[in-house]
Amino acid sequence: MLCRDWGFPLRFDDDRAFLPYNADALVPAWIEHETPTVAWERISVRGFLEVDSTNEEGLDQARRGVSAGTLIYAEKQLKGRGRKGRTWISPAGAGIYCTLVIRPSQPVAFWPLLAHTASVAVALAVKEILQEFVSAADSLAVPDLKWPNDVYLSGRKTAGILLESTAGPGAASAAVVGVGINVRQDSIPEGLFDQATCLSREAGTEIPRRRLMMAFLRYFQQWYLVFERGEHRKLLACWKELSSMWNGVPIWIEDGGNRVAAVTCGLTDLGALRIRNADGIEKTLLAGDVTVRRA
Ligand code: BTN
Repeated sequence: MLCRDWGFPLRFDDDRAFLPYNADALVPAWIEHETPTVAWERISVRGFLEVDSTNEEGLDQARRGVSAGTLIYAEKQLKGRGRKGRTWISPAGAGIYCTLVIRPSQPVAFWPLLAHTASVAVALAVKEILQEFVSAADSLAVPDLKWPNDVYLSGRKTAGILLESTAGPGAASAAVVGVGINVRQDSIPEGLFDQATCLSREAGTEIPRRRLMMAFLRYFQQWYLVFERGEHRKLLACWKELSSMWNGVPIWIEDGGNRVAAVTCGLTDLGALRIRNADGIEKTLLAGDVTVRRA
């Protein structure tokens, strides 16, 4: 594959090719070199120009035994996967589409919290990047986590997490943490401008993808170590601080095909959502979608 095919702006000097440095290009060697590693011995980066789904690729590579801390990213996904069988639209170069392969030592029962670890890391990375690139403090959008693990800016979805695993009898277990972040305008699916947004739209300026990816990897490792130490309450406390909707907020839930009104009333120790319905009965939602009810 030629560098030019990746959109890298090569310069030539005396028949030698140079790749001028820029903070957007997802060059594997630069990501490996510039990202501090604290959770694994090293971060090994595998980039694809296009792939069906980085999660599918991650599951495949995990089964082949790649080490923890392997990052798979693609410039474009042909069959990007979202939660609940949905599609994650992934046009070339418009967003971050990546999957981390990890091999947690915590029991599998706690692995759902890895999605919370990832959404915390994305929210903190987005916050840091926006603070750096948006000069006017009054127009700074603040990331808000929406259960289960969506990252919102200005009331619109900006990023999503898809956690999958190879866990099963006899298999060497690995978790794959897929992250999709809308960065450029063309990452927003047509017709979804009211419901989805992207970082450049919120910031009013282009956001360099590698800087964002490296910030995500830094925060993910930091909070992954908290997860691995079993400090799950600390992790969830951070998640709650980054979310406006986990307690006392009116929502709609799906119940047997019907839309039912409820109010959020906390998170369980595994990050499931506690809700109270109109009859005052409390329930736990393990998965699914909720919508915040506006007055
Ligand atoms: C969601 O539905 O909100 C989760 C979206 C997750 C999308 C990311 S993009 C990279 C990784 N590969 C996939 O196929 N999906 C995840």
